[in-house]
Amino acid sequence: MTQDELKQLVAREALKHVVEDAIVGVGSGSTVNFFIDALAGIKGRIEGAVAASEASAERLKKHGIRVFDLNAVDELPVYVDGADEVNEHLYMIKGGGGALTREKIIAAVAKTFVCICDASKLVPVLGKFPLPVEVIPMARSHVGRELLKLGGHPELRQGFKTDNGNLVLDCRGLTIIDPPRLEAELNNVTGVVTNGLFARRPADLLLLGEAAGVRTVKARGA
Ligand code: A5P
Repeated sequence: MTQDELKQLVAREALKHVVEDAIVGVGSGSTVNFFIDALAGIKGRIEGAVAASEASAERLKKHGIRVFDLNAVDELPVYVDGADEVNEHLYMIKGGGGALTREKIIAAVAKTFVCICDASKLVPVLGKFPLPVEVIPMARSHVGRELLKLGGHPELRQGFKTDNGNLVLDCRGLTIIDPPRLEAELNNVTGVVTNGLFARRPADLLLLGEAAGVRTVKARGA
């Protein structure tokens, strides 16, 4: 199976977790795009969606799925999103597409976070994928210096602005042995909007696309 076929497989599997007559949280990225396309097939059975990026919102609307503002939503039973890396605790690195802040906000609201990935995303230790950090533009250099002090090698994502009008520093070389701790530490740097570690609010369920089919993984110890 190709990587795209694996993504499609997990995207379809995620439909089983969508709650009928409710609003579903939708992340962003290429795996989520397959999920949105699959969601179109059951659009009559959901109230609508909230989207983590303008691109996802556009795709949902093209399929005739109503997109709600998160502020207008009281309850979000399920959020479906991809990841750039995920470990056995279902801690993740996200933000390869730059939508990390909105993704983290929706994840915070959702009751259940279903992560959908092809098998290549499961890693023993997070950090090979450069960690995205969204920063307020005027704080770019300050945050860069702070990341250097933490042992990282930040690089400005060229020609890119987030949906919130901010910049992204992609940071290589950080030692991520305690993801929840590093997530909090980075969030404490003045000028950081959010960082791509999703450990304080990990996924609840991982649907992993493998050659043999979809493997459902719950967080170790959960
Ligand atoms: C977007 O900002 C990311 O967090 C995505 O969820 C992540 O990059 C996964 O994307 P793919 O499904 O395209 O690999």
